[in-house]
Amino acid sequence: MITKDNTPVAEDYGYGSIKRVLITEEEIAQAVKKTGQLISEEYAGKPLLIIGILKGCYVFLADFCRAIKIPCEIAFMAAESYGQSSVSSGDVKITLDLKCDISKYHVIIAEDIVDTGNTLSKICKILKERNPLSLKVYTLLNKPDRRTVDFTPDYSIFTIPDLFVVGYGLDYDQKYRNLPYIGFVEIEE
Ligand code: IMP
Ligand code: MG
Repeated sequence: MITKDNTPVAEDYGYGSIKRVLITEEEIAQAVKKTGQLISEEYAGKPLLIIGILKGCYVFLADFCRAIKIPCEIAFMAAESYGQSSVSSGDVKITLDLKCDISKYHVIIAEDIVDTGNTLSKICKILKERNPLSLKVYTLLNKPDRRTVDFTPDYSIFTIPDLFVVGYGLDYDQKYRNLPYIGFVEIEE
């Protein structure tokens, strides 16, 4: 686990409510680059499709795909979990689906965070039924303490404690996605 206890927040982009930086821009860049290198070796010579789960994945995916130095294709899905505020209801609905046949690809799902595990266990179930050559989940962040379903990503770049985090594509109430680091905000509910 990589944490930055009490790191002063140099730039909060005017949001004003970031408690602390959990993972810095530099730490993210280094870890994403390393993960890209691993994928470049593992999938060399194979037809590779990377599926990003919107919206949270978009910043991570932009850096992640550029760290992969072999040919790959990119596609997107979107899912919503209906329920109250920041608490996942477990009732996951696919709101944007793929337009391509994945049966001729090795598929990597690029996700921002695995929390309860509901979203990805549902998406993986759907995608497995479409018979990809292989299917693996790479997540930027993993919060194993919050899991309510039996789901383990194949690769977690950072494992974090049970905190609500924002930045680098992750939001609270659609805000904070543009922060370049992963920060921790206190949610009042
Ligand atoms: P799940 O609970 O694993 O299904 O995660 C559902 C979605 O909730 C994730 O893909 C994120 O978009 C969002 N989410 C979960 N935890 C956090 C967090 O700490 N910050 C921001 N979004 C989160
Ligand atoms: Mg997400």
